[in-house]
Amino acid sequence: QTAILTALDASPAGTLTDSRTISAAGTLLGSQEAQAVVKSALDSLLSKEMVDYKQITTNVYGLTEEGAQIAASGSHEFRVWQACPAAGAGAPVTVPELKKLLGDDTVKVGQGRAFKNKWIAKDGAGFVRAAAAPVDETAEQLREVQTTGGQAGGDKVLKELIKRKLVGARKQLHFSASKGPKFATEVKTLETDLSTDMVSSGKWKEAEFKPYNFAAQGQATEGGALHPLLKVREEFRQIFFDLGFTEMPTNHFVESAFWNFDAMFVPQQHPARELQDTFYVKDPAKAFIPDEAYYERVRKTHEVGGYGSIGYRAPFLRADSERLLLRTHTTAVSTDMLYRLANQPGGFKPAKLFSIDRVFRNEATDATHLAEFHQVEGVVADYDITLGHLIGFMKEFFAKTGNHKLRFKPAYNPYTEPSMEVFSWHEGLGKWIEIANSGVFRPEMLEPMGLPKGVRVLGWGMSLERPTMIKYKISDIRTLVGHKTDLLGVKSAAAVRLDKGDD
Ligand code: PHE
Repeated sequence: QTAILTALDASPAGTLTDSRTISAAGTLLGSQEAQAVVKSALDSLLSKEMVDYKQITTNVYGLTEEGAQIAASGSHEFRVWQACPAAGAGAPVTVPELKKLLGDDTVKVGQGRAFKNKWIAKDGAGFVRAAAAPVDETAEQLREVQTTGGQAGGDKVLKELIKRKLVGARKQLHFSASKGPKFATEVKTLETDLSTDMVSSGKWKEAEFKPYNFAAQGQATEGGALHPLLKVREEFRQIFFDLGFTEMPTNHFVESAFWNFDAMFVPQQHPARELQDTFYVKDPAKAFIPDEAYYERVRKTHEVGGYGSIGYRAPFLRADSERLLLRTHTTAVSTDMLYRLANQPGGFKPAKLFSIDRVFRNEATDATHLAEFHQVEGVVADYDITLGHLIGFMKEFFAKTGNHKLRFKPAYNPYTEPSMEVFSWHEGLGKWIEIANSGVFRPEMLEPMGLPKGVRVLGWGMSLERPTMIKYKISDIRTLVGHKTDLLGVKSAAAVRLDKGDD
């Protein structure tokens, strides 16, 4: 920068016509590498409005291999003349002799030209010199190009030399510069930020600010990536859609204890309802009970029974039903949906429903547990369907996720009877792993809703995290969600095809 500013300062016109002519620290900045450095110095000075500059492209000429050879030892015709003796000073040289001496190529071109130039003359079978001291114009022109990169003889000569492939042209970048509005011989550092200090001290008044560079490229923006859970969720969604299921609206995380537990025939004394298992919501304090007559039927079923059941015969408090909580399972939404199915205009119609969404449990977190996770749930409601249908649906569904070998084990859920845990043979891990919970919903849950007597409802549920962790070989659930998420891992996670079952 100083070299440029000094050169401009020294010039009476305040201009620099060719940036290749300046030198910094004793070296001429003629090379293209040096000009790249000059350009960045000019850019920086331009941003401070200290200079203006233009880029110039010029052709520089250099010798080809053949050109360099001629510059060194003369043109072909000159070398032929050199090889011939002066008239009367010896035996004339024959063509074969010349060829032996100078090589075929030189003689082929040189002999004719030397003869045409009248530098040599025929003498019997050979040649002798006809000129005493010919001027080797080509060699001299080439020597000039070699030392100056140009040709005083002008474009015509250069064109001819290029045509003869003795000279080549190369483009060279350099710059011309002139003083800018804020020209000075010294570079001042400009302020880039207006600080509170500058404002309170009043220094901003004298400070010189660097202008904005609106042409700057800015930082490259990074692309987004789907989280592995979302990729696997999408796979499950498509499987459900393939099987003709409809997605349930699960977009509310806060649910009433009524829908989450009571309506599902989960007793009010059930341990899962306790504070250490469920997150309750303080505000608003109370949930709204959707339908008093339905509520009354639910209460009676819990307290004294009905629909063939003797009930829990334990106290049932409205205050407990009205509590709000973060839903502990998506089955709360399925329950609400079944109630709507029973009470829709035109009455109940068979349905296949599914949901994949977030649930919350007040749990200590470790490598396999988080206080929030996702559930995948399928529900089928129709007349006279059986446990066999449930097994059939699950075989069909899980086969599409790559689980072809299933086992069912009797289990207990307050809201299903019978209930089954589902196990799948995992080829990679070499063992049976539990993959789902399932069952046939109890009449104590369905009949108070007003579902016709012959209607059976089947369901199965599982977590989204577990198959995702198996697919992506993630051993700690805490690297999947939350503040310890492995963002790079998320970015590079491959797409997943559940039906390939290739984990
Ligand atoms: N809600 C059950 C769970 O939390 C899953 C389930 C859904 C079981 C439907 C039976 C029927 O594990």
